[in-house]
Amino acid sequence: MQLASAFWAFKTFAAAVEIDLFTRLRDGRRVTVSEIATELGIHERPSDVLLAACASLGLLDRNCAGYGNSAVAEEFLVSGRPCYFGGYVRFLDHREYPAWHGLVCALRDNRPLTSGPDEQESIFLTDDTLPNGHDVVLLSMILHDWDEITGRALLRKCREALEPGGVILIVEWLLNAQRTGPAAAALMGMNMIVETVGGRNYSKSEYVTWSRDVGFQGAHIVHFDAVGANGAVVDRKH
Ligand SMILES: C[S@@+](CC[C@H](N)C(=O)[O-])C[C@H]1O[C@@H](n2cnc3c(N)ncnc32)[C@H](O)[C@@H]1O
Repeated sequence: MQLASAFWAFKTFAAAVEIDLFTRLRDGRRVTVSEIATELGIHERPSDVLLAACASLGLLDRNCAGYGNSAVAEEFLVSGRPCYFGGYVRFLDHREYPAWHGLVCALRDNRPLTSGPDEQESIFLTDDTLPNGHDVVLLSMILHDWDEITGRALLRKCREALEPGGVILIVEWLLNAQRTGPAAAALMGMNMIVETVGGRNYSKSEYVTWSRDVGFQGAHIVHFDAVGANGAVVDRKH
């Protein structure tokens, strides 16, 4: 049931961001259901339901003075704050969510839904070589945008751009060797079906193989716990 109705939570979250609820409640402001209904120009029933739902998701809390931002909402969902995350929520809601509605078509046709097949461009894949002389090249969430042939070509170009001893870092949501997870990596792959012509999320071992095949010295994986990636494939040019 949780899996089936997971979109309720996202759409509640996105609606609250859209009406900028958390910015209205910045700096410890507390409101009652009827106060926020008047402020937003909506009926009390949806106001009551929305505030309760946001509280249930940990975005608001409630005391005798009314509802207010939780700590996470105060830090990340108040517009103008340094770590404001609402822009990304709106991006997901406006661009990705409607596109995912056509997911079955994307699976059947093997083509993206957010752009035409000729619109995905690679400024790193022109005939020109990349500027050289670098100690480090960081590919953060880049290779999952491309098919294997293109990904290998990008890696080769990056290797050419490195000085001897230079390091390549491939930061991604990496699939495990069995291709059974983690879910964030596998589902990012689904997003690549919706968004790109040939992209997918690859496993650690695939990147290790590509890296070796284009002439790097031998990769190792650095695992970490982050919101946008779970590890880096690190390799060095001889
Ligand atoms: C998912 S975002 C990652 C952005 C950033 N590197 C990060 O880690 O947050 C991928 C971005 O890289 C761009 N990109 C991917 N492959 C590229 C390529 N071959 N040439 C130029 N831009 C590329 C995409 O257009 C998109 O803007």
